[in-house]
Amino acid sequence: MPFHAVIMMVHSLCFSSSHNDLPWNIRKFIHNKIHTVNFTYDLRNISPWSRSAWSHTDLNRLKQGRVGAQLWVAYAPCGSQHRDAVQVTLEQIDLIKRMINQYPNHLAFVNDSTTQFFLTLGTPFSVFRADCSDVDKPDVEPTHNGLSTFGKTVIKEMNRLGMIIDLSHSSRQTAMDAIETSEAPVIFSHSSAFALCNSTRNVQDDLLKLLAKKKGMVMVNFFSYYLTCSNKSTIHDVVGHLNHIKEVAGPDAVGIGASYDGINSLPEGLEDVSKYPELFSMLLASGMWTLEELKKLAGLNFIRVFQEVEKVSMRLRSESLPHEEHIRPEDIKDFISCRSVAKRDANNTLC
Ligand SMILES: *[C@@H]1O[C@H](CO)[C@@H](O)[C@H](O)[C@H]1NC(C)=O
Ligand SMILES: *[C@@H]1O[C@H](CO)[C@@H](O)[C@H](O)[C@H]1NC(C)=O
Ligand SMILES: *[C@@H]1O[C@H](CO)[C@@H](O)[C@H](O)[C@H]1NC(C)=O
Ligand SMILES: *[C@@H]1O[C@H](CO)[C@@H](O)[C@H](O)[C@H]1NC(C)=O
Repeated sequence: MPFHAVIMMVHSLCFSSSHNDLPWNIRKFIHNKIHTVNFTYDLRNISPWSRSAWSHTDLNRLKQGRVGAQLWVAYAPCGSQHRDAVQVTLEQIDLIKRMINQYPNHLAFVNDSTTQFFLTLGTPFSVFRADCSDVDKPDVEPTHNGLSTFGKTVIKEMNRLGMIIDLSHSSRQTAMDAIETSEAPVIFSHSSAFALCNSTRNVQDDLLKLLAKKKGMVMVNFFSYYLTCSNKSTIHDVVGHLNHIKEVAGPDAVGIGASYDGINSLPEGLEDVSKYPELFSMLLASGMWTLEELKKLAGLNFIRVFQEVEKVSMRLRSESLPHEEHIRPEDIKDFISCRSVAKRDANNTLC
């Protein structure tokens, strides 16, 4: 259940990436005690980061990679759902804000599109009792078959609040329902092309077209298992996915998701966050991308989605009140023990 917070790096704005799990590694490795490590140092020399296949990020390598904007993930693992997921998420958002305060020369919090980006939160929908991508595996039966009525209300409220809707972990039917329900463009923040590797975390061609029609985008994940469906991949495989999405959905519908610090099998040539420029020089040299298209890939598409989401939010806030529907008791009946209040009033709603 990852939430995203957007932060713009103060140094030269160049590339933007939509998924980085450094905050989860900070929790895992040093229990959020950020004063025990200096993140401007090369973490490849500092244990336990140096020993982990999951670690690809520090502030200087971000600078080398000319990363101008990064969505940091406030991740809470699936096992925390119906338990302490809210607490873990808030702790991770707090951690991200503390990191920004600790490194004001490297990081700044961004909360509206006049400074390019604004605070945004995205979440997959299993939390709202929709199916997530695992149900698209051949031998798995869907339990909800797409978005529930409550799930659709959640989409509408996210539109009103100005939250970007992220479908990277949702099932095919949930994604279709969400694209249809949302008044603002939606994104897949870290997914690749299903036509090239049939992982359920990737996006099929018909969905790519639907997404493009609604002005959304897919931001390519660098995980080998989503690029080649195996533990081996190279920078050329990333190029292949970017080319495919551009070809099917158009140059306005593609971006960089990466997923550094959240994956442990990376393409040869894109081993850490310092390597983004290699990817862009390879795309430029291929002659298949114009400079304008590369600017869109590097960030303009993302900014466009942000601005569109903000515009929809401003309109909805002016014409409607917050949604106040409760989740139906029967939708959480298996988890009733997690509630501190579980009595029904005369209208049969929980109170
Ligand atoms: C990290 O180290 C650099 C270089 O020694 C120093 O300037 C900076 O103040 C340190 N930052 C923190 C948060 O300790
Ligand atoms: C963004 O942050 C600034 C400074 O904290 C605040 O004044 C402004 O209201 C915020 N904007 C939004 C859209 O939350
Ligand atoms: C992916 O392709 C393999 C080989 O054809 C097949 O066994 C598997 O079921 C496919 N997976 C999905 C999610 O379609
Ligand atoms: C990659 O997969 C192959 C075949 O499944 C296996 O033999 C090899 O040990 C794996 N390599 C790594 C680095 O995981």
